[in-house]
Amino acid sequence: MRLAVVPGDGIGPEVVAEGLKVLGAVAPDIESTFYDLGAARWHRSGELLPDSVLEELRQHDAILLGAVGDPGVPSGILERGLLLKLRFELDHHVNLRPARLFDGVRSPLAEPGEIDMLCVREGTEGPYVGNGGVLRRDTPHEVATEVSLNTAFGVERVVRYAFERAVARPRKHLTLIHKTNVLTHAGSLWSRTVEELSAEFPEVSVAYQHVDAAAMFFITDPGRYDVIVTDNLFGDIVTDVAAAVTGGIGLAASGNLDVSGTNPSMFEPVHGSAPDIAGQGIADPTATVLSVGLLLEHLGRPELAKKVNAAVSFDLSTRDPKATIRTTEVGDRLAALA
Ligand code: NAI
Ligand code: MG
Repeated sequence: MRLAVVPGDGIGPEVVAEGLKVLGAVAPDIESTFYDLGAARWHRSGELLPDSVLEELRQHDAILLGAVGDPGVPSGILERGLLLKLRFELDHHVNLRPARLFDGVRSPLAEPGEIDMLCVREGTEGPYVGNGGVLRRDTPHEVATEVSLNTAFGVERVVRYAFERAVARPRKHLTLIHKTNVLTHAGSLWSRTVEELSAEFPEVSVAYQHVDAAAMFFITDPGRYDVIVTDNLFGDIVTDVAAAVTGGIGLAASGNLDVSGTNPSMFEPVHGSAPDIAGQGIADPTATVLSVGLLLEHLGRPELAKKVNAAVSFDLSTRDPKATIRTTEVGDRLAALA
């Protein structure tokens, strides 16, 4: 198995080193190649994602990304030129974000109950495609459009993936989150797709919620969710709420999947490069390690993914919540446990 590794900037390289430590403990046969992409490269050479690098990345079975960015890069440059470019070029149409409240982890909710949800967010359509423009910029008559693009093909493949995940889980429950009462054109396509596919998955019970109602239930009753499917923008927002109620940014893992397997999928912690703590060795590498678990599952090694998740689960249940995290110590512990 060939893995492309993009450590990136700030705490990216720190957490990726620990992710690779744990990966090496369970799968010593994986061969890693490192790629220098992110803010540092952009400052040095102005390059974001050269075509030659993109072609090399395509030759791998998966990509592990730390985080990119620093305060010296204007907003949007790395997002559009690197992160979104990777997502679109490699057809990462599923953004997968599990949110589970592990034993021993404190939720900001007073009574969180059991939380174990899997968010399936569409990754290549919606309002993030750059379909829009500006007229009369910097005048009082400026016009700006940002059109949400939804295709039958694009919605179907994501909803199908969500059903497949739901049917394989004990609760077999799927919730569509949208705003079908106001965004009626896209909303109708999403609801009809869910309805049509539900005939193929009769064991899966289906629910629908408007995104504003979901924003409340994620806080007041997150335990009601099992698998969630939603569009790119709503998914961006609700997955961060899901991360917050399950212990926050140091634990949130994600996968950007090309479910067809044509292109390598990319796994990364949800957090950024955290310049405020970079270089201090205190970043929590757990989100990266859980992303490695998603990677193993995606590459057809579920037994290894289980080992990684069990190691994290045990470590979190035995951590002293008051002790300062030491990045390498957490990695050492997880590698030994896995
Ligand atoms: P951030 O996620 O880097 O940091 C937010 C807060 O969470 C900070 O206080 C940070 O110290 C803390 N934090 C983050 N990860 C942590 C970890 N593993 N352990 C302990 N604490 C952690 O988000 P922020 O500050 O908005 O962005 C910083 C840079 O990262 C920016 O340049 C931004 O563009 C970039 N970014 C990159 C992403 C990516 O590569 N996918 C995602 C989000 C932001
Ligand atoms: Mg986000």
